[in-house]
Amino acid sequence: MTKLILGIETSCDETAAALVDCDGNIHANQISSQISEHQHHGGVVPEIAARAHIDRIRGVISAAMDEAGAKNSDLRAVAATGGPGLIGGVVVGTVTAKAIAAARDLPYYAINHLEGHALTARLTHSVPFPFLLLLVSGGHSQLLAVEGPGQYQLYGATLDDAAGEAFDKSAKVMGLPMPGGPNIEHLASQGDASRFDLPRPMIKKPGCTMSFSGLKTAVIQAWEHCGKAASEAPHLAASLQQAVADCLVNRSRNAMRQFRSDYNNETLDIVVSGGVAANQTIRKGLETLAKDEGFCFHAPPIALCTDNAVMIAWAAAEYINAGLAASPRDFAPRPRWPLAEMSSSPWSAAS
Ligand code: KG4
Ligand code: ZN
Repeated sequence: MTKLILGIETSCDETAAALVDCDGNIHANQISSQISEHQHHGGVVPEIAARAHIDRIRGVISAAMDEAGAKNSDLRAVAATGGPGLIGGVVVGTVTAKAIAAARDLPYYAINHLEGHALTARLTHSVPFPFLLLLVSGGHSQLLAVEGPGQYQLYGATLDDAAGEAFDKSAKVMGLPMPGGPNIEHLASQGDASRFDLPRPMIKKPGCTMSFSGLKTAVIQAWEHCGKAASEAPHLAASLQQAVADCLVNRSRNAMRQFRSDYNNETLDIVVSGGVAANQTIRKGLETLAKDEGFCFHAPPIALCTDNAVMIAWAAAEYINAGLAASPRDFAPRPRWPLAEMSSSPWSAAS
């Protein structure tokens, strides 16, 4: 059997394990969502998440090995999210990966969760370096030039909330269950996006910096102003979704122009990744923009946009394929780990 990389993801509320080979074939993809345990708290509770990861991790890894029909001797490396994320969960994944690597004498890779999202499109679409990345998740919103594993140039990030937070916090205010983003999208499909005049923060400014907290505040005010009428909810959801899409398209346009002048590429590629990339209105807006600006648009399939362990195993495959070193076994998990601070020696960057 081809030698496999075991990937482990535990940075938020999904306990996930996957097996991938260095050619990008996915042999197993197991995800155990904890959403039911957090739902009645209205958000992810870090302590509950950490305990749930401990309870589930063993079963999830066994299920991945069974799915692939793999034995321990089929493994060539073990990778786990080393940050950023909820530190209790990151510790669970990291300790598990280090233990398996030590017991089997395998190389261990501490993967930056954001790098997992960033490199997924190379597994699904073989996108060449360098490419422009819009990473939009529940915790991050940023535009970056991706030059290679560990090589990122930051074009702009959010000053406050992430795009996913704008969806999640607005959904909570409107009484929608978790996860906020997909529920807003579902509701928005029956709404009129022009009904509420919501702001588009930052779009008059040059550059790629984003801001979403004002949008969330405007949604709260609009919801109160309309008397929290259920009949208005689809319209408010649609207006919010359109406002986020417009902001992301506007910032991405500036990033495309900067990327074009920074890299004299024959072909220009933009990748959108992270949970918010699952949103069809946002995808369509970016696709149209890409066409206008002469970029090829790539978005991984939705199941690989939201948190998963395939992306963690694949990021390790990228390091292996590029001949880069494995991580030291004393790698310390990091709650904060910006991609732009990775540079060429990612494991030694200060936390
Ligand atoms: O990447 P991800 O699974 O986890 C993080 O690393 O944060 O992203 C989760 C985020 C949440 O904020 C969720 O509401 C948002 O992605 N999301 C969506 C959609 N699906 C997930 N936002 C808008 N529309 C969606 N369809
Ligand atoms: Zn994520």
